[in-house]
Amino acid sequence: MYKTTLAAAVLLLTLTGCNKTDKTPAVPSPEAIAKAEAARDELMKTLKGELIAAIGEGGPASAITVCKDRAPAIAQEVAANHNVRIGRTSFSLRNQANTPPAWVADLIKNRTESQNLTLAQDGTLHALYPVRTKPECLLCHGDPDSTAPAIKEQITALYPQDNAMGFALNDLRGYVWVEVDDQ
Ligand code: HEC
Repeated sequence: MYKTTLAAAVLLLTLTGCNKTDKTPAVPSPEAIAKAEAARDELMKTLKGELIAAIGEGGPASAITVCKDRAPAIAQEVAANHNVRIGRTSFSLRNQANTPPAWVADLIKNRTESQNLTLAQDGTLHALYPVRTKPECLLCHGDPDSTAPAIKEQITALYPQDNAMGFALNDLRGYVWVEVDDQ
């Protein structure tokens, strides 16, 4: 009992005391969070729009090039529009170029299912949002045995090291990460 009280007192002191001289606020500002969410939403919406358009025009196999060429370009456009850094990543990568920043790699090692908002030492907001598979994702990330041969061929040709097949509906597929600088 005494030990528990002591431990609680030490914890309380640490929690209240340690940030006194630190200028960085302990929690991210609502403005920074709103900025991260707006960037995430635009990235997902734009990607989805271009994917659906490409599937409609040339079929799913041709949409792979949208993902390949447009996904990184869209991420850059969104980053510039919103003045943030943003990307998609996963613990099971298709494109090795989607290897995340170190803070993301640490968080996703254990395939975290929760969103994570933290302030880095320099005041940058680090935001991580899980991404789950929807029915349309399984065209290119589903069970290899039920994937169209044309899609499998393209993926193998473009991504010889692909590690992003075999997902089921609503599985955790990966993440969107965003960095918002201190305002
Ligand atoms: C037409 C095929 C296709 C569809 C449909 C598709 N993807 Fe992908 N996906 C790809 C390709 C190709 C890449 C690699 C492109 C890149 O550089 O980002 C990729 C990459 C990713 C990445 C980045 C991490 C990595 O493995 O490189 C995530 C996350 C992702 N897809 C999630 C999804 C989700 C969620 C959906 C459904 C909303 C989806 N994908 C639908 C083909 C597809």
